[in-house]
Amino acid sequence: MYAFEQVESTNVEALRLAELGTPHGTVILANHQTAGKGRLGRTWHSPANTNLYASLILTQKPHRSCLSWIPLTTGVAVAEAIEAAANLSVSLKWPNDIVLGNKKLGGILCESSTKGPSAWNVIVGIGINVNWEKEHFPGALKNTATSLAIEAQHQIDRRVLFTTLLSRLETNYERLLSSDLSSLQSSYVSRSSTIGRHVHVQLATGETIDGFAINIGSEGELQVNPSATHVYSQAQKPSVITIRAGDVIHVR
Ligand code: BTN
Repeated sequence: MYAFEQVESTNVEALRLAELGTPHGTVILANHQTAGKGRLGRTWHSPANTNLYASLILTQKPHRSCLSWIPLTTGVAVAEAIEAAANLSVSLKWPNDIVLGNKKLGGILCESSTKGPSAWNVIVGIGINVNWEKEHFPGALKNTATSLAIEAQHQIDRRVLFTTLLSRLETNYERLLSSDLSSLQSSYVSRSSTIGRHVHVQLATGETIDGFAINIGSEGELQVNPSATHVYSQAQKPSVITIRAGDVIHVR
């Protein structure tokens, strides 16, 4: 494990270390990130002394059919750790936002490098808002984000949360490496706040889909029953659209 007082981003450090041949399971932890990264090129606000910022290097490759489950499995591990260490029940907004009510508590960013000695690697970056106080949130996050301390109404010990997270990550990656997808799928689905909701999905292509989220498929994909729109007449409308990547808004 590498613990830093301050880095640009633990994912950037982890990518650099993976390229140097750092072994599977190594964790990079930081107290402060000066350029924390979120999904879709966003910034991840990372003040000092208050939240959890960690990245895990994976070089042991799960079976091909399980690869898309890496971020979702991480979401399950984060949810379990929060449940155990902070006694709060959280849910997962597809693909892997950690939410409480409809406010975001944490997120996961997976990246990989093609350089370095290992034939395969994935960097799993995890950010959890732990003891962040509302008055310190940047304006844009005040209504959309929360922290464990706000929800629990007391400070949470970051060390306890981190050690619990490491053990849940280990257990859940073992399930992934042994291709135990059905148990992972049920752990994920039971915490999903997206299934059963009307959603608006923004795809990377710029296309949007509105519909009803019905399930998570065996490859971690979101299955949506599309609303009748100008694109489809009622007769042509496919009953299920499979979404592998996108940004989801819960409409109602
Ligand atoms: C998201 O947009 O939901 C993903 C956020 C991921 C943030 C974490 S914090 C630790 C790691 N280092 C980063 O720069 N990003 C991830």
